[in-house]
Amino acid sequence: MHRNLSGRVARIAAGLLAGVALIAAPALQAAEEKAAEGHESHGVDWQGWKAGNQINDATSLQRGASNFMNYCAGCHSLKYMRYERMAKDLRIGDEQLRKNLLPAGAKTTDYILASFPKAEAEAWFGRQPPDLSLITRSKGSDYVFQFLKGFYLDETKATKTDNLALPGAAMPAVLSDLEGVKRVVFGHGESAHGGKNVERFDEVQAGSMTPAQYDVFVRDTVNFLQYVGEPSQVDRVSIGIWVLLFLAVFTGFAWMLKKEYWKDVH
Ligand code: HEC
Repeated sequence: MHRNLSGRVARIAAGLLAGVALIAAPALQAAEEKAAEGHESHGVDWQGWKAGNQINDATSLQRGASNFMNYCAGCHSLKYMRYERMAKDLRIGDEQLRKNLLPAGAKTTDYILASFPKAEAEAWFGRQPPDLSLITRSKGSDYVFQFLKGFYLDETKATKTDNLALPGAAMPAVLSDLEGVKRVVFGHGESAHGGKNVERFDEVQAGSMTPAQYDVFVRDTVNFLQYVGEPSQVDRVSIGIWVLLFLAVFTGFAWMLKKEYWKDVH
């Protein structure tokens, strides 16, 4: 009897310990990662940069759409997306669409096509600016975030810049007015992720935005591109919220009903 009880206590204790371990593990891991970051603090972990965008943040998506139309649509198309669909999904009013986003001469039913003539783009950049409809799906949102923050001064290149995420990139640093211009001081060997090992950035010219503002600009743009890659995501998130609400209300009713039934049993 006695032994049995202590056996059970031991089992419960073991169970509790396992539970604590389960809860503590992620915290421990986070602490370890932090410590590791501390170790590498003399370098820039640019491949660890995360977009951190929220696909259900409507204002971020609206800003991203505006960023795209103003800074990217000259060269890049979104060939599966019509202006009117974008406006509807992102809750952009007709007037705002026409005034701020629609290029001169375009109709709301048009697809979002680049204004730069294809043949000329080839001649200018030596490469066609790709359609960006599926870019976050093929390369990931974090990658696009790193790419847009990865331009640095390199006088040996035709565009006077190179890119950490895409070495030899034919795209010019079209956001340098906002971000500023930076030089990269490379460290020895490769980074922990197998990319270029960056010791530090040196600012050559300040941009019109602070680094934090530029991060928001890039995050919004990436958010918009992620939406374009799968437009139904935006609907799905809001449907998901309604499903959860329904389940919560339904559970409440079921519980009340159960109480009602069992009231008379006693
Ligand atoms: C002046 C023309 C031009 C503008 C404006 C421009 N791009 Fe590009 N972009 C290019 C070209 C050219 C390439 C092809 C680069 C290559 O393959 O080397 C490219 C490639 C890309 C890629 C693909 C990178 C890869 O890994 O293949 C992304 C993502 C991208 N651009 C995003 C943007 C965004 C976002 C904007 C707006 C903020 C923008 N671009 C504005 C010309 C442009």
